[in-house]
Amino acid sequence: MSLDWSNLGFAYQETNCHIRYTWKDGVWSQGELIKSPYINLHIAATALHYGQSAFEGLKAFRHEDGKIWVFRADMNADRLNSSARQIMMAELPKELFLDAVRRVILANKEFVPPYGTGASLYIRPLLFGSGAQIGVNPAKEYTFIVLVTPVGAYYKGGLTPMRAMVSTDYDRAAPHGTGHVKLGGNYAASLLPHHLANQAGFPMDLYLDPVEHKYIEEFGTSNFLAITKDGKYLTSKSKSILPSITNDGLCRLAAHLGIPVERRPIEFAEIENFAEVAACGTAVVITPVNEIVYGDKVYKVGPTEGAGPVLQKLYNNYTAIQWGEQKDPFGWLTPVED
Ligand code: PLP
Ligand code: COI
Repeated sequence: MSLDWSNLGFAYQETNCHIRYTWKDGVWSQGELIKSPYINLHIAATALHYGQSAFEGLKAFRHEDGKIWVFRADMNADRLNSSARQIMMAELPKELFLDAVRRVILANKEFVPPYGTGASLYIRPLLFGSGAQIGVNPAKEYTFIVLVTPVGAYYKGGLTPMRAMVSTDYDRAAPHGTGHVKLGGNYAASLLPHHLANQAGFPMDLYLDPVEHKYIEEFGTSNFLAITKDGKYLTSKSKSILPSITNDGLCRLAAHLGIPVERRPIEFAEIENFAEVAACGTAVVITPVNEIVYGDKVYKVGPTEGAGPVLQKLYNNYTAIQWGEQKDPFGWLTPVED
């Protein structure tokens, strides 16, 4: 496979195959590796009409010895099932999810980027209602697929700080809605505000709480975290944000490194107390944010270039665990082959 591994962006790249399972009458199929990236779908599938669809995102890393490791897949299995319960889809036995991830990676081994290129294999599980239903009801049939694609950085430039714009006219989630699960519909709701932020020159959009627009929620595709001027790791607590697996890992890593961790509602006005701000997520890893615009006010945070010292330390440690360059004290990595 001769891809330009070091210059991959976050874009879909065709691979050998995906894996596909179907659920009917209470039973999941055995799963099949399918070459074609197309799917033959009923025109009345609930995913198409009523948004009965949820997905996940995780990564596999090739270590220096050539072996492939998956990062925290069990967490994605749990989160996909919490999404499934929220919109009344069939749940997946954890073993089936983990086996699907392993089988599809093995069938696409040559697409796992070489060690040292900074690229990894992005794994995208997708669960949706594929049964026909014209009344608004859950489908009676479901499809689960896992596709893989090699990726580089989500935002070009690695730890180059980004600018974010607070979305003042749009929310991505409702107070008692579905922001805490990973539904396709949440991302549909974010497309227009994201486009408007992009048009205004901001690669990232930051959402405030949908009740008062007073507290910081999260970015469009990642959680919000700040390092306070007194050295704490601070991240948002809200019922309408996605529980990020990266954020969970960084909180545990920070505590392990002796950095105090605080998870609580964060008022936007507290921004004056932050020494460093970042977005975190599977795709964005840790992306520093050094400017946040809210209406006509511009807030500058942290260094103008690169990451601040605490974010840099977290980034170095977190990615060193992912790449097998440092001991994994948390048991986050699972080998794809025995
Ligand atoms: N928040 C949103 C809205 C996301 O889309 C993502 C990406 O998955 C995250 C947070 C980060 O979650 P994770 O770290 O599990 O990838
Ligand atoms: C991820 O980080 O895995 C995401 O799902 C974010 C985005 C690409 C939707």
